[in-house]
Amino acid sequence: MPTAASLAHADTNNLEPFFMPFTANRSFKADPRLIVGAEGVHYIARDGRRVFDASAGLWCVNAGHCRKPIVEAVQRQVETMDFAPTFQMGHPAAFELASRIMQIAPPGMDSVFFANSGSEAVDTALKIAIAWHRARGEGQRTRLIGRERGYHGVGFGGTSVGGIKNNRKAFGMLLPGVDHLPHTLDLADNAFSRGEPEHGLHLADQLERIVDLHDASTIAAVIVEPVAGSIGVYPPPKGYLKRLREICDRHGILLIFDEVITGFGRVGAAFASERFGVTPDMMTTAKGLTNGTVPASAVVMQKEIYDTFMTGPDWMVELTHGYTYSAHPLAVAAGLATLDLYRDEGLFERSAALSPVFEDAVHSLKGLPNVIDVRNIGMMGAVEFAPRGGEPGRRGYDVFLDCWQSGVYCRQAGDTLAFSPPFIIEEGEIGQIFEIVADAIRRTD
Ligand SMILES: Cc1ncc(COP(=O)(O)O)c(C=O)c1O
Repeated sequence: MPTAASLAHADTNNLEPFFMPFTANRSFKADPRLIVGAEGVHYIARDGRRVFDASAGLWCVNAGHCRKPIVEAVQRQVETMDFAPTFQMGHPAAFELASRIMQIAPPGMDSVFFANSGSEAVDTALKIAIAWHRARGEGQRTRLIGRERGYHGVGFGGTSVGGIKNNRKAFGMLLPGVDHLPHTLDLADNAFSRGEPEHGLHLADQLERIVDLHDASTIAAVIVEPVAGSIGVYPPPKGYLKRLREICDRHGILLIFDEVITGFGRVGAAFASERFGVTPDMMTTAKGLTNGTVPASAVVMQKEIYDTFMTGPDWMVELTHGYTYSAHPLAVAAGLATLDLYRDEGLFERSAALSPVFEDAVHSLKGLPNVIDVRNIGMMGAVEFAPRGGEPGRRGYDVFLDCWQSGVYCRQAGDTLAFSPPFIIEEGEIGQIFEIVADAIRRTD
């Protein structure tokens, strides 16, 4: 619950100095949406309203807000050891967290590299892919393949392999030697699909075209989100991920799944790789790793990748990469407590059990004014609106604002709204959220 101090602090009227990320700064500051507390599946707005957090923050608070075991673990840690380097030093809990992640990762993915954000995890994985090929004597494999409309964070690597045009256009040439698969949204054939859409397997075969164009010997890695999240929830077409795996295997290309959103139960299994039965060479994870409590991310990789680097004189650094805050003690404490909570409360299983209820609720929006698609998988769902003439994204923004004012916080991506509630949500609360959203859609022209 918000304390008097936090409410008072939130009363500041000078919003100007904070250049807000991924925000329409001027319209926000003209009519701010300030949050001063969080509890369970709710945010508490500055005006005291309880608002459903239908997005688990930014797809990260999978176990719900301000969970006591996590809060207390972080409190204990900050009193015991606030910071410890992991360059040429180590603290035991960091090794424990790596082991715990390994236990829930697909078989063989037995090595973990820590960073602080999804963006850092992605750039780390891309660098490891290139360095790994070099360590094996294939230093010419430097090309990276992403996908149109993919989101891989905001580092130069992630922006380069990312495919959301508005995220790229202001930043010049980005990395050279990058190509993109086509995106997988197909409204003509797949609108209102439940789960994995039927059509679109052929889109994975486009990787063969790209390999043919550049020659396999120049390509280091393919990176995709198993379910494209930030663009507005694109579940993979049936068989698509498996086909990518086959093509990568055929050509000696590493396959990276960006599981920053899909990891830690979001698709009804520990990871999307488990849910879809396809094991990548590396996975990037973040968000749900610490339930969003402390920034942290991890690249999880096949042991063989780690082993390849373990050559040369044993006193020399094997990979010249890392962050001051890799495996920060507070992040590690939050991570361990979060994984305990997921296990003790069976939250991945709960996510799977709630998914059909969530699916029905999202699809109840079909038939409402301007709704042209509804998509879902696991505890991720989206509704897409026809754009208003001359103002793409405006209708989505208007519905998003109405939802916030009516008691639901969700994510807007252009004319799409995305939903990803914490897994502790009750069935009745899912119903309430989508009634509020439906009313907002009806009110918006
Ligand atoms: C798939 C994916 N990769 C990377 C990122 C970047 O994570 P961060 O914002 O923690 O840098 C995100 C963030 O939403 C994401 O969804």
